[in-house]
Parts: sequence; structure tokens; C-alpha cells
Amino acid sequence: MADPLHTVAAPLREAFAAVTGLPAADIDPVVRNSDRADAQANGALALAKQLGRNPRELAEAVVATGLLADLCSNTEVAGPGFINLTFTPEFLSAQVAEAAASDRVGVRRAATPEIAVVDYSAPNVAKEMHVGHLRTTVIGDALVRMLEFVGHTVIRENHIGDWGTPFGMLIEHMVDLGGVDAELTIDLSDPSAFYKQARAKFDASDEFKDRARARVTLLQSRTDAPTMAIWQKLVDKSADYFDVVYGKLGVLLRRDDIVGESFYQPMMAAMLDRLDQAGLLAESEGAKVVWVPGFKNREGEPLPLIVQARTGGFNYATSDITCVLDRVERLHATLLVYCVGTPQSQHLQMVFKASEMLGVLVPPARAVHVNNGNVLGDDRKILKSRSGEPAMLLDLVDAAIERGRAIVAERSPELPADEKAELANTIGIGALKYAELSSDRIKDYVFDWSRMLALEGNTAPYLQYAHARICSIFRKAEVSRASVRGVTPTIGQSQERALTLQLLQFDAAVHDTLDKFSPHRLCTYLFDLAQAFTSFYEACPVLKDGYEATRESRLALCDLTARVLQQGLALLGIEAPERM
Ligand code: ARG
Repeated sequence: MADPLHTVAAPLREAFAAVTGLPAADIDPVVRNSDRADAQANGALALAKQLGRNPRELAEAVVATGLLADLCSNTEVAGPGFINLTFTPEFLSAQVAEAAASDRVGVRRAATPEIAVVDYSAPNVAKEMHVGHLRTTVIGDALVRMLEFVGHTVIRENHIGDWGTPFGMLIEHMVDLGGVDAELTIDLSDPSAFYKQARAKFDASDEFKDRARARVTLLQSRTDAPTMAIWQKLVDKSADYFDVVYGKLGVLLRRDDIVGESFYQPMMAAMLDRLDQAGLLAESEGAKVVWVPGFKNREGEPLPLIVQARTGGFNYATSDITCVLDRVERLHATLLVYCVGTPQSQHLQMVFKASEMLGVLVPPARAVHVNNGNVLGDDRKILKSRSGEPAMLLDLVDAAIERGRAIVAERSPELPADEKAELANTIGIGALKYAELSSDRIKDYVFDWSRMLALEGNTAPYLQYAHARICSIFRKAEVSRASVRGVTPTIGQSQERALTLQLLQFDAAVHDTLDKFSPHRLCTYLFDLAQAFTSFYEACPVLKDGYEATRESRLALCDLTARVLQQGLALLGIEAPERM
């Protein structure tokens, strides 16, 4: 386990057990990062309280066991009973060598592999993908990659809006245009055009409104072949458009990952029966509802979760409870991740609670709403396009690639055309995704092209450049990266030590990011790593004449840094070019 904070926990546990008489397995030595030393063990505080002992004395006794001597060159009790730990260079060298030897660069697998469903992106049929989908798509995709990396079985689900009342007017509009064979092309510069036409008709004509309503009933009965064929065509055309966006954005979502609202339709009646049998179904103003405790409306009255409208129709909540059921009972998922904007928080919490009351969403199964705030423009309102509508995702993606091109033209004019195009993509899309991932997802952030594309600061280009620079060190030295992988580096200078400690925390950074479902934690880690590398590279000559003795060792640290940067960016869905 190439994480010294983790490794040192074992002898600490033994030492605490020896001085307290408690079983080692029950002890948490509480090892943390520290500014004073390489790490700090704070376990004495809680244990002393539990045993009615003096925490400082307990800490001193732990140190006196001598059990830490193999790993630490210095152990010092500070404050109320913290143990400051300074690792021996040999221990750090061995841990780096261990990380370098593993193809997971030191990242542990999850203790209990699970089946995880990640619900992300989720655009609506016949509508455009806008800036809000940048967040749900990019965050979800990064979490999918990380969950897979630590060994979970991940099922991606794109819960598209492909059912419900708007389909009445959409299908009817298609009928007016000639039915299923009528031409339907999605204009990439205005993907909602068809929807807007249908809507305009709906608003203008009562006759059309009536037809649209009748069509919804027909659709929901699933008995009319022509209706189903038109519906399918609408869904397919939209899926083609989503694929264009996903392809350019470089996310993992594929056609097969689409499991839209319609999928749950045939199972909803049975789900309502189960709610009824469980005694959870109530009537409220003609609708069938579940009273979920703890939720109130603006007037402070209990808020019902409506699962069947007065008209008999099913709605968003019906589909989402059925969806929980499907994920738990058919897919056997124990971790249900929902990457959906904050405005749907109440809806999802009510759905989760209702599913819990139904006995479906019970441990070990659990659901997490990985919510996100808004992407803002300079005016601090949701980022808009020139027309005043929310910015379209495809426009942002194209603009990012265009800006990547400008950077490449300026910095790497010597590259062949195809490499230039690829690098422009890597830089532009990388910057766009990283701007998204590096800000705390629950907060709003202001969209700023020049900041996200800057070569300085916590940006993708900065990290990509750090990676490319290391690759160029090896090119210059004419040494293959693989050839230094078996080298156990010597940790001498303080910058080497700082870089080493940072490298060894990749494992903790990945697991911590997943614990909180917060990709910005991994971003912060990678940024700190790149900075530790810069300090190292300034202070510790690698290829200079006169430094032959340390060359291999330092090249080994360079190689591991590049690998962690590359792997870390890959977990975020971002590529690390070898030249830039
Ligand atoms: N299609 C929905 C929307 O655009 C998001 C769906 C999110 N997933 C879910 N299971 N409710 O608002």
C-alpha cells in the first residue's frame, strides 16, 4: 500500500493496543497530513477520553513502545497529545518504489467492490443540450471513471426525458408534416427548433391542443403502432444529436446507456400496487400520493409526492421511484449516484425517502444526489448565448476546440496538421472539462475562457504542460520512461521529500474524492502535485552535468510524477499530451 499515512497506521494501531490493552482492530490512530511534520497521529485524544487517561501520557507511551522506529526517524508528542511523525528516507523510497511498480500508481482498490449505477447527463428528447448539461455530463463521467478505477462495477445510465405530455404535441406536429416518413433533421445550431414549432402550434390552436392531448393518451397506451413509430423516430434523432455532443466532448456515454423515462413506464402500475400494499398510497385532491415525512410546501403544510395525477397519468416521481426499484432489484446496485442539478434536490430526496419507506432502498443500497450549482456568465446569471437563451453545450464545445486551435497555432506551429488538430482538441476540451471539475460542484461558478485556458494556475493546460514537460526531459535525456521504473529513488533534498510525499497521496486523493463525490478534490491534488514538481525541478537538477549520481533516482521521480498526472487527468476524462 503505497501511502505512508496508511502504512504507518498499522504499527500505530499495534502501539496503541499495547499501551491500552484494547484490540488493535478497534483502534483508529487518526493519521492526518501535517504542516509540522510528514504526518500527525491524533488517535490519543479520543482514546484517552474513552479510557479516562491523560492523552499526552498515552501518546508518550505509544512513542516509547519503539514500534514506530522502523518507519519514522522522528516522533514527537505535541500539544494535547498529537504525535508528529517524520518518516525515514528509506521508508519513503520503498513506498515510492512500490507505487511505481504498480500499474495503479499506488491507488488501492475499494475495500468492498459494489455495483454502482451512475445516472448522468440526462438531456430531454427534442430539446437542446445546454450549459446545465455540461455539469451533469462532465461530473458524472469523471465519477464513472474513478468508480471503475477503484474496482466497482459501474453501470452508466442516461435517464433522458423521452416520455410525458410534450410528446403529444411533438408527435402531432410530425403527423401534420406527413407522419413517420416526414423529414426530421436536427439542426445542430438550433436543436430545439422542432420543439418550438410544435409548441407554437399548441399555444395557438385549440384544435391542435385537443389532438395533442388525445395523442398523449394513445402514446401512453402503447397500442398504436404509427404513434410508437413516430415517437421512436423522435427519440432516435435526438440520440444522434446527443452522440455528436458526447463524441466531441469525449465522454463515455453511448447509445446503449440510454435508459429514459419511457423504459420504466411498463413497470409503473406494479410499483403503485406495491406502494398500495405497503399502505403508503393515499388520496389527495383526487391524485394518488405518498406522504413523505419531513417535507413541507411554502405554506409549511405537508408536501405530498404525487405518483398518479387526477387524470390517471403517471409523472416524474412515478418514473423515478420505479427507476430506484429497477436499479436495486434488477441491476442489484447498492450505490445509486444521481448527477442532477440542485433544483431537483427536493424531488430526489422525496423519491429516495419513498423508496426507503417501500423497503427497496435499504442498506447496503443507498442513493446519493450529486448535485451541482449553475454556470454563470459575467452578469452572474446563467451563462447565455447571444440570443439570450441558456448557452448551448455544443457551442461551448466548438468554441473550446477553436480556442485550443489558437493556442496550438501560437505555441506549436511546427507540429504536423493532424497532430495540431488533435492537440487543439485535447487542450480545448481539457480546459472546458477541468474548469467544470475543479470548482466545487455545489457552488455556482463564473465561466471564463481566459482563466480556464491559462497556462498558469489551477487549469488543465497547466497540468497538461507539466506532463508534457516531463516527457520532454526524457526525450532530451534519450532515456526511456520504462527503464527507470525499477529504480528505487533516494530521498535527499527537502523538495524531493515534498514531491515524494505528494506523489504518495494520490491514493488518498482518489478515495477522498469518491467519498465526497467531489472531483474538485482530485483537481486540487493534481495542482499541488504539479507545483511540488516545479519546486523540485528548480531545486534538484536532473540532467545537469555533475549530477550523474542522482540522475536515475530523479528521473524515477519525474516518471512517477508524469504517470500520476496522466492517470489523474484520465480519471477526470482529460488527456495528457506528450508534447505541447
Ligand atoms: N431529464 C431530466 C431533466 O432534464 C433529468 C433527469 C435526471 N435523472 C433522474 N433520474 N431524474 O431535468
